[in-house]
Amino acid sequence: MNIIVTGASRGIGFEIVKAFAGTGGNRIVALARNINNLERLKSVCETMPSGKDLEIIQVDLSDMDGIFSMLVPKINSLFPNLDILINNAGYLVNKPFKDIQRDELNEMIRINLMVPFTLIQSLVELLKKGDKSHVINISSMGGIQGSVKFPGLSAYSMTKGGLGILTECLAEEYRDTNISFNCLALGSVQTEMLEEAFPGYRAPLTPEEMANFIVDFAVNGQKLFNGKILPVSLSTP
Ligand SMILES: NC(=O)c1ccc[n+]([C@@H]2O[C@H](COP(=O)([O-])OP(=O)(O)OC[C@H]3O[C@@H](n4cnc5c(N)ncnc54)[C@H](OP(=O)(O)O)[C@@H]3O)[C@@H](O)[C@H]2O)c1
Repeated sequence: MNIIVTGASRGIGFEIVKAFAGTGGNRIVALARNINNLERLKSVCETMPSGKDLEIIQVDLSDMDGIFSMLVPKINSLFPNLDILINNAGYLVNKPFKDIQRDELNEMIRINLMVPFTLIQSLVELLKKGDKSHVINISSMGGIQGSVKFPGLSAYSMTKGGLGILTECLAEEYRDTNISFNCLALGSVQTEMLEEAFPGYRAPLTPEEMANFIVDFAVNGQKLFNGKILPVSLSTP
């Protein structure tokens, strides 16, 4: 399968790429800014069944022009079709509503919402060439209507809620194609993002545990789900 994972330099994305590399027959493109971490990922995967077919690309996804001028042409040159796109890259600022700065708000909207929108839009023709393609948008429990909300996460949760609605809309708009769109709303996972936002909090899941679920869902979930926002959480009711 031909696979793209954003936010692959650490946390859940890093483990998603490792899990895909652990199965033969996968060609994986892993995206993030931190090239040292991406190179570490490449070396960790080197001896795995699909490790040789892992391409790391250093990219700042907040540079929309770069997505069009560099990233999309590069992906088109690597893949004849795309089977799985996992929009996992995320950005979180935990601050009281009144203190959130304009640049922080812009960055959350850009990374959590505009980047998935733009990547899907730019890659939809490649996704159409697949057999049964699957787009997975990684959201958060905070983005689910009626879930418990946390102070400090207004902007972050707003963007993640939007990502869920985008998923529902695209499933409808592309209903008659081979592409399925689903959104996984994660509960807490012990990553650097979580530690930075909530120092000292201990999550019930490791990135590896969550990544294994996401990879299994990416491969099989489109047989059962389309246009769904699915809570994947032990922590948040
Ligand atoms: N951990 C949790 O408890 C939790 C709960 C609910 C939802 N989620 C969601 O799950 C996803 C993964 O979370 P995580 O905890 O693994 O986060 P993380 O450890 O902070 O990793 C985020 C990833 O996004 C990438 N990224 C951020 N800004 C980027 C940019 N401008 N350009 C390119 N890549 C960028 C980072 O790479 P670089 O810095 O190298 O660019 C990194 O690889 C996120 O969407 C998050 O919102 C996490």
